[in-house]
This record gives sequence, structure tokens and C-alpha cells, in this order.
Amino acid sequence: MQAAINGVRLHWREAGAGDPAVFIHGFPFRSTMWGPQLEAVAGGWRFIAPDLRGYGNSEAGDLPYSMDLFADDIIALLDYLEIEQAVICGLSMGGYIAFSLVHRYPHRVRALILAATRANADSVEARQSRYDLAARVRVHGAMAVVESMLPKLVSGATRIHLPQVVDFVKNMMQTTNAEVMARTLEGMAARADYRAILPGINMSAMVVHGDQDEIISREDMDLLARQVRGAKYEVVSNVGHLPNLEAPDVFNQMLQTFLRVLPPALGIGDLTLRF
Ligand code: MLT
Repeated sequence: MQAAINGVRLHWREAGAGDPAVFIHGFPFRSTMWGPQLEAVAGGWRFIAPDLRGYGNSEAGDLPYSMDLFADDIIALLDYLEIEQAVICGLSMGGYIAFSLVHRYPHRVRALILAATRANADSVEARQSRYDLAARVRVHGAMAVVESMLPKLVSGATRIHLPQVVDFVKNMMQTTNAEVMARTLEGMAARADYRAILPGINMSAMVVHGDQDEIISREDMDLLARQVRGAKYEVVSNVGHLPNLEAPDVFNQMLQTFLRVLPPALGIGDLTLRF
């Protein structure tokens, strides 16, 4: 499906009918990374997976990218679909976007699923290495990102037992536009530090971490689980940075259990926010 959203033609995939949940992909992927979740959509739920601007089948536009711009696109998509409130599930960069959403549009978020992500901003060194990678991508193309990220993306077990996942991920990376990747790297480097908002997040939440994740540290995930009050913490064994693809059945089971016990959506007037 596609429509003109926030100044660009945005594409998204949907499955199921009922209460909405939006799945935000990581860098540099696209909505197809949520295939195993859309194929097993929970009863009574409508799963919506957008291609962020520049990714998959969505138009790139010509603005500099930021986590706030991607979040604004999600809000514009919800407006277009006439959805007041949705569960937001973000993986890695999708989580950075989820923090922007919950900070700036808390009343639009019913519950949060934070997979393989972190609330802290980049260190000075991490920021510099993103700028360096952005420069390399502009010169050498997508392979610069593939070479830098692919070795760290999945666990050893996934590499051996699910080589098709590695191929799938590599293909998504290779076929993403180089300028889009460079702009996104700059956007991630400039992202805000969201640690201060964590104790104010007043909604159901689940934190999911692969125990072999080489991109997001256990400390960063522990912090989320500790600071977001009442967050459910799920650590998936033998899985790297992409738990929904590396252990789709486990991930789907956790997702369905979390959604099943979610309190009913509140009317906007009922929300008490502590920001
Ligand atoms: C992602 O998977 O979205 C990226 O690894 C996030 C990052 O580089 O910080």
C-alpha cells in the first residue's frame, strides 16, 4: 500500500484486522524484515510495517534525515489511516524512532516494544565513525555499509543454521540507496539522548535482546529494562541483533503473549503522562 505522507510517497505492508501495531525497521533494512511477524499476525490485531522514507518502496525526498523526521512520517501515516493510538515496535534504529514518538507524541503510543535498541546517544567516537562511514558510502556505495555491519548482525548459530537470513539481510543492505544510507547515518549520529525520559514512560513495554548482539550491549538493554517502569524483559538465546528474523517463532510467541495481556486502549482524555 502507498500514499502521499508528510511530503513523500510512503509504502507500507499490512496484515490482519483489529487493534493497530506499527513495526519500525532498523538501519538499513525495510518493511520486509517484519515478514515473519506479518505472516503470523495475532488474532484481533492489525500489523502495519512501513518502509521508512528512502527505504524499500518509499520515496526518499530531499530533506536531511533525522529520527524526528522518521517519527513525524509515522504520525502522518497514523493520521492518514485514521489511527489514534497504536502499539509501537521498533528494532534498533526503529527503537530510536520509537523514543522520538513516545517523547513527542506520547498520546499516540499505546504500548512499546523495544528490540535490540538503546536510549543513549552516540559517544563522540561512535558519531565520528558514522560520519566516516557516511563519507565512504557516498564514494563506494552500499558495500561500505555491508562490509562494516554484516559481520556483526547475526549470531554464529544463525550464520550456520539460517544462512538464508544472512543472504536476506545482505540483499536488503545492498539494494538500499547509498545517499539514503549516508543521510540516515548522519541522522543517527545527531539523535538525542533519551535516557532521561525512560522513567516517565507510563505504558506497557517489552524489551527484547538477543544474547549474542554485537551492536547493542547488554548494559544498554539492561538500562531500558530497569528504567522503563514495569517493562517485561526478554533475552533470547543464541541470537544476535535481529531476534525477529533469527528466532521468529520465539519472537512471535513473546509478541503474542505481550499483546494478549495488554490493557485496553485508553481514550485520549484518560491518559496520565508524567513527562
Ligand atoms: C540498526 O540496526 O538499526 C543499526 O544497527 C542501529 C545503529 O547503527 O545504531
